[in-house]
Amino acid sequence: MESPFKETVLKGKTALVTGGGSGIGFAISTELGKHGAAVAIMGRRKTVVQEAAAALQAQGIRAIGVEGDVRNIEDAARVVELTVKQLGRLDILVNGAAGNFLSSAEDLSPNGFRTVLDIDSVGTFTMCNAALQYLKKGGPGKAPSEAGVILNISATLHYTAGWYQIHVSAAKAAVDSITRSLALEWGTDYDIRVNGIAPGPIGDTPGMDKLAPEEIKDDPRFEQPLYRLGEKWDIAMAAVYLASDAGKFVNGATLIVDGGIWLSHPRIAPKEAIRAISRVVEMRSRKTSHASKSKL
Ligand code: COA
Repeated sequence: MESPFKETVLKGKTALVTGGGSGIGFAISTELGKHGAAVAIMGRRKTVVQEAAAALQAQGIRAIGVEGDVRNIEDAARVVELTVKQLGRLDILVNGAAGNFLSSAEDLSPNGFRTVLDIDSVGTFTMCNAALQYLKKGGPGKAPSEAGVILNISATLHYTAGWYQIHVSAAKAAVDSITRSLALEWGTDYDIRVNGIAPGPIGDTPGMDKLAPEEIKDDPRFEQPLYRLGEKWDIAMAAVYLASDAGKFVNGATLIVDGGIWLSHPRIAPKEAIRAISRVVEMRSRKTSHASKSKL
């Protein structure tokens, strides 16, 4: 789909996208690049990040792929430094790296729970921590008035509760909390805007393949408009908006991009039934209150 944004909105900026080699992360990397940013893609699998960077280069985007695990503090520092060394600066950090699998709470080991929190929550903070000095105004390659931005990718399942995802719900709740705390502290101290994006179910992603096996995809609710799967492009456009000056007054927000699915629950009754009974119920209650007042 064609972008509604000018292709220069991120001209001169450099982005580092963790988990940027596949799925939603790759779509974000691509769109940030197509809108003018140079892009460093970080991920655990060397061939995946290198191929992803090559795909961006083939579109005329300045890009590098760097192997690294967000759970490793040395990796985080090395990848951030390499990004600045090779691409000259750092303006946009996107924390997209995430771990996930379905498991009932009773089948999940404490180490399984911890592993996902380590990747999603601690990994997000580790990357923010490593990037801070470069995101600040006057950092390498930056003018004294230019501060960077951070985008944390979370989810919506923890707004209520998601079946078989106690680990991910806890991890993403922490990510949203990190977004707000850093928005407060680093927004106030350094003008760094820190926002989040909470994608709903997005089609054609490794996450969806893992979390919604064929049996779940047959769920008839997916035929209702609200249960339509989103596209990776929808999330990437939210990232372009928040990373660009279009979002210059947005700080500490987590933008839900799910078509409203998280609000969805079964109707209590058809609209026609409500039309038929609503005024009757109202009239009945007015009569009752009128009658009790007359007795007084
Ligand atoms: N069900 C239950 N427990 C599981 C599991 C599953 N499907 N997969 C892993 N675990 C548990 C392991 O048993 C282990 O716990 P234990 O030591 O008590 O046995 C713990 O999680 C760590 O597993 P391990 O395979 O050593 O971790 P890893 O670092 O190699 O992999 C994961 C991390 C588990 C998140 C893995 O799924 C992964 O790397 N995924 C790629 C990223 C991804 O999920 N992308 C989709 C994003 S939506």
